[in-house]
Amino acid sequence: MLEVEGDPNVAVMEPTTAHVESRASVKEGLEGVVVAATRLSDVDGERGRLIVAGHDVEALAGRITFEDVVALLDTGHLPGAAERATLVGALGRARVRAAERLADVLPALARADAMDALRGATAQLATDDPIEVLAGVSVFAAAWARVAAGKAPVAPDPQLSQAADYLRMVTGEAPDAARTAALDAYLVTVADHGMNASTFTARVVASTGSDLVSSVVAALGALKGPLHGGAPGPVLAMLDAIGAPDRAPAWLEAELASGRRIMGMGHRIYRVRDPRAAVLEKATLALEAAGITTGRLALARAVERAAEGVLRVRHPNRPLHANVEFYTAVLLDTVGLPRELFTATFAVGRTAGWCAHVAEQRKNGRLIRPASLYVGEVPA
Ligand code: COA
Repeated sequence: MLEVEGDPNVAVMEPTTAHVESRASVKEGLEGVVVAATRLSDVDGERGRLIVAGHDVEALAGRITFEDVVALLDTGHLPGAAERATLVGALGRARVRAAERLADVLPALARADAMDALRGATAQLATDDPIEVLAGVSVFAAAWARVAAGKAPVAPDPQLSQAADYLRMVTGEAPDAARTAALDAYLVTVADHGMNASTFTARVVASTGSDLVSSVVAALGALKGPLHGGAPGPVLAMLDAIGAPDRAPAWLEAELASGRRIMGMGHRIYRVRDPRAAVLEKATLALEAAGITTGRLALARAVERAAEGVLRVRHPNRPLHANVEFYTAVLLDTVGLPRELFTATFAVGRTAGWCAHVAEQRKNGRLIRPASLYVGEVPA
């Protein structure tokens, strides 16, 4: 027995290893644990297939708009022209309402980091309507970019689609069709992706009966981490640091030797190349075909091949391929968004999935309350 310091009458047991054997039953990282039935999306990591509400991601990205995927996740079917026009109008008007709040949220936006600012600004929304939240996240993210660049926010244009107006609110210029299509392809691609960490976070919060904004704010916090949505900025930094294809193997080897991970490579679920990487690579190629390029696509492809090579040698039993973030970096850079805004732009797309999961959780779900294995001391 140990005596508690300062109180000889209270004793606790010595540290015990009694629980250690049952540690094997702990599902570290909840890997393989199924926590919800969903009709929203399915990730097949062995075959590299992503289904979004009944459609392969390749059949959606580049063919439908962000408004379409919002409707698809909400209703289970792709909208007709009238339904799409209604949604474009509703989102446009909601962006105008969100911009009216900018004066209130500017202190949050003036903070240094895009995701911290977005989290703070979104937290000030007082609504349980997904349209208002989707609009708010895009207006606040765009306004952050302007404020960070020392410029005034650009007022929304309610006539435009969410993708076109987002580009316009960030750059201050009316976007062309190619850039808008590329951003639509991106937002559609990232709209939902199974039980990823931020979606799980949103569902946990919703499962307690809490409100939509709380779910989305919590999800923003989860998305921000470099193991989830925080990788594309560092991917671009990596491409800049490498500079030329022939420098890639040595640079990547040095990165691994110093104990760092290669950003944009590897995935918890995928054992093959993330299908979203291919979709975004293709969308970036379409931009190049329209004459819009930063010259980084060829370098990115060479770095991806080199990274696969060095990772294969280092982890022969763990397939490590490009994930969504790898070509997110190249695509968002090519459409003209600053790298500091990449994760916030991911949030603009993923908010569609979060809102749909919150609705689904409210309809079918139970309080999410897993168990833990106590490995501490037990008082006598
Ligand atoms: N670079 C180098 N090594 C990597 C790696 C990467 N990008 N991704 C995984 N590995 C290695 C790990 O170091 C580990 O090696 P070890 O067994 O010798 O310790 C092994 O592969 C398994 O990794 P693990 O941490 O179990 O995988 P996970 O499923 O928990 O991680 C990610 C998945 C996405 C977090 C991980 O691949 C990663 O950190 N990628 C880089 C960040 C990134 O791109 N994030 C965006 C994800 S969409």
